[in-house]
Amino acid sequence: MRLQPVRGTRDILADEAARHRRVMETARGVALRYGYAEISTPIFEFTEVFQRTLGETSDVVTKEMYTFVDRGGDSITLRPEGTAGVARALISGGLSQNLPLKCYYEGPMFRYERPQKGRYRQFHQIGVELLGPGDPHADVEVIVLAAHILEELGLTGKTVLELNSLGDSESRSRYGDVLVSYFRDHESALSHDSKVRLERNPLRILDSKDEGDRKIVANAPLFEESFNQASTDFFAGVCAGLDSLEVAYKVNRRLVRGLDYYCHTAFEFVTNELGAQGAVIAGGRYDGLVEIMGGQPTPGTGWAGGIERLALLLDGAPAARRPIAIIPVGEAGEEPATRIANELRHAGYTVELGYRGNVGRRMKRANKLNARAAVFLGEDELARGEAKVRDLDSGEEVDVSLSGLARALEKYR
Ligand code: HAM
Repeated sequence: MRLQPVRGTRDILADEAARHRRVMETARGVALRYGYAEISTPIFEFTEVFQRTLGETSDVVTKEMYTFVDRGGDSITLRPEGTAGVARALISGGLSQNLPLKCYYEGPMFRYERPQKGRYRQFHQIGVELLGPGDPHADVEVIVLAAHILEELGLTGKTVLELNSLGDSESRSRYGDVLVSYFRDHESALSHDSKVRLERNPLRILDSKDEGDRKIVANAPLFEESFNQASTDFFAGVCAGLDSLEVAYKVNRRLVRGLDYYCHTAFEFVTNELGAQGAVIAGGRYDGLVEIMGGQPTPGTGWAGGIERLALLLDGAPAARRPIAIIPVGEAGEEPATRIANELRHAGYTVELGYRGNVGRRMKRANKLNARAAVFLGEDELARGEAKVRDLDSGEEVDVSLSGLARALEKYR
């Protein structure tokens, strides 16, 4: 039996788990304040939920999905992202009666990518989706919400917001024509993948990681030169909204997203502290998505953040609560120790009770866990209805009656 975790998956332990929890709790708390309610969609869906919506030619669909046929013969895919599932829930759950739909989610996602620091095959996202409003205010709201979460996590100084517009579908098809004619002139120098993209989705060439492609891309015509008035106005609206709330951003005309459902706004909060995996929160507008899936046309905008990446940026482990160590001294202390630990935990204390060993071994463990105080339960003290409490910072000791123990420990909480 192979006992190592599958490549690209990891066990998340103690301090790292605490950092993940901090990211989720902060995000959920801020999202609730903006009126976003929690949604939890299944981690697998019928394959077509992702296949058409994310883009038949996107890397995620062509190379990265975990797809299998289940025992009933259905093609199932482990979700590579959360937006398509939320859109599916909107349609199948009849949620479009109650727009706007404002939701927050968190959980595991799956992509068969090449693992490296900050990039895994099972990773975790926080995310929000705002469905219904089709105007720039909505984009501003979700971006401000993301910026607010980063602020509460203390990460504002480590990230930069990059913003772009991908225009509406008319502008995109106009730009597609311009790009095709530009890339045709350089076709022989393009990578094999980009030659395929030229036929199927020329915009994706802009996203190519190939060195040769990048040189050609550097001189490609800019998207905004193909914008119609509506697209120009929309982007100006988003910028004005961010300006008025004093949210700093950098326009990056080369920012394209890896998923095909986007239009108008595209953005990424990026850091330079994680090597190649710079995007910590990314998203944009996806007005066509619900309609492609067979629902009523419903505009939408949102983002998702990588919990692993955000957690890597957090400074150190969050301060763990220092426990109270209960230390039975000899056989007589064992039974009362379990009972007293139980009472103190019900009174709200974090309590460490070693399971076996002499006083020395249990003290060693208490020190390793950075316990704040130790409660010794020896035969003599117990006979008097008392325990000995030692302050593990000062070394000071006092005898305390068992009935007043919870109160006496108050200062060590
Ligand atoms: P995405 O850009 O594919 O967008 O992913 C969002 C974030 O998830 C990334 O910026 C990154 O932090 C994290 N992430 C993605 N792949 C991995 C990986 N393999 N390992 C670790 N972290 C990863 C979406 O998923 C869209 N659904 C976002 C969205 C919501 N757009 C509109 N609404």
